[in-house]
Amino acid sequence: MSKAVSILGSTGSIGRQSLEIVRELSLNVRALTCNKNISLLAEQIVEFAPELVGVGDGESALKLRELLVLEHDLEPKRHPQILTGYDGLCAAATMSGTNLIIVAVVGFSGLKPVLAALEAGLDIALANKETLVAGGELVTSLGAKRGARILPVDSEHSAIWQCLEVAPDREFKRIFLTASGGPFRAFDKSQLATVTPAMALRHPTWRMGAKITIDSATLMNKGLEMIEACHLFSCQPEQIEVVIHPQSIVHSMVELKDGSVIAQLGFPDMRVPIRLAITWPDRPEANYYRPYDPCASDASPLVFEAPDEEVFPALGLAKAAFAEGGLAPCVLNAANEAAVSLFLRGKIRFIDIWRIVANELAAPRPNLSVFNFTDLEKAHNETIARIMQRHS
Ligand SMILES: NC(=O)c1ccc[n+]([C@@H]2O[C@H](COP(=O)([O-])OP(=O)(O)OC[C@H]3O[C@@H](n4cnc5c(N)ncnc54)[C@H](OP(=O)(O)O)[C@@H]3O)[C@@H](O)[C@H]2O)c1
Repeated sequence: MSKAVSILGSTGSIGRQSLEIVRELSLNVRALTCNKNISLLAEQIVEFAPELVGVGDGESALKLRELLVLEHDLEPKRHPQILTGYDGLCAAATMSGTNLIIVAVVGFSGLKPVLAALEAGLDIALANKETLVAGGELVTSLGAKRGARILPVDSEHSAIWQCLEVAPDREFKRIFLTASGGPFRAFDKSQLATVTPAMALRHPTWRMGAKITIDSATLMNKGLEMIEACHLFSCQPEQIEVVIHPQSIVHSMVELKDGSVIAQLGFPDMRVPIRLAITWPDRPEANYYRPYDPCASDASPLVFEAPDEEVFPALGLAKAAFAEGGLAPCVLNAANEAAVSLFLRGKIRFIDIWRIVANELAAPRPNLSVFNFTDLEKAHNETIARIMQRHS
């Protein structure tokens, strides 16, 4: 395969697995970015020789130059161009001649480079769901206008996308969006009040970055994914039923108009949806994954149950934000980002994450029906600043 790709967030869980696929398929890497993990980025530079890299700030850029020379013996004339902050992310997202931009950064930081990539008419493989939550209409309308595709990497959305391949005009009645339920599926409210970051970071079926692991434990991840699905598949939350499926084997299901229900399944392995987004529309043979065995002890019987929305209020919060529209989903996402970061730093309890998000959603905000990136960035930054100030 002779594709050229760039990876935003190459040092993270999705970024590293994307590079495994790049290595397997011998793809050309144009650009890589990270925030602070300079030592891993330096190793990736030596192996994949990108022309450009992005890092979080000037200090990281200086350290990276030093590392490349002192630890990797890479003389300066062989260094990639090094840019910082949004300059690096947007330059990496827009290099002409790149076939696919893999967006694996976490949080709101993905939105600006995604808009830049789509504006440049480049296809994106999108893992970063926060981008579609905060800026869904902006992103999908720009993609359609510029003829750039948004290929889902999230395993559930990849599943839905694949299931819809068999539907005439990709029409459907309902989506069953599966959720592992996280580590606290059977907990009641009093047990949830005592949850520590270490407990919440132990996900039962997936190994992921810290933020999405906490989102999975609160079920906010499923709320964000519900909004993501509404944008990707042009539907309303009423058409999406979240079902708890602790084994994470059925990655999602779609009920078509004739009553057929199509599911996509397999043992949990993010490399499968990442690889499909990279190779699509082809599906070259792979041999790294655990072959599916429907009779395996961890695959039989398949278990499904309804979520407890009273104990886990995140789905209701996401539905309310989507129903309000405008800046509300952006505020939902920002409040959640701030609250997760406070929880991880031991400043608030697990159950406070929902309370903080609910308070921010209940607060008054400008009622904008038309908005651009600057409006979203302002709403995002103001929400984060307000929450951080309250908990400083
Ligand atoms: N992990 C999964 O299995 C999975 C599955 C489905 C969807 N997703 C989604 O994919 C995205 C990435 O998840 P992940 O688990 O791979 O996260 P992660 O392991 O935390 O990696 C995040 C990446 O983004 C970079 N980054 C962090 N903050 C940044 C900032 N402010 N500006 C620019 N770059 C920044 C990190 O750089 P440093 O390493 O330098 O910090 C790292 O490369 C998330 O939106 C998540 O919801 C993940």
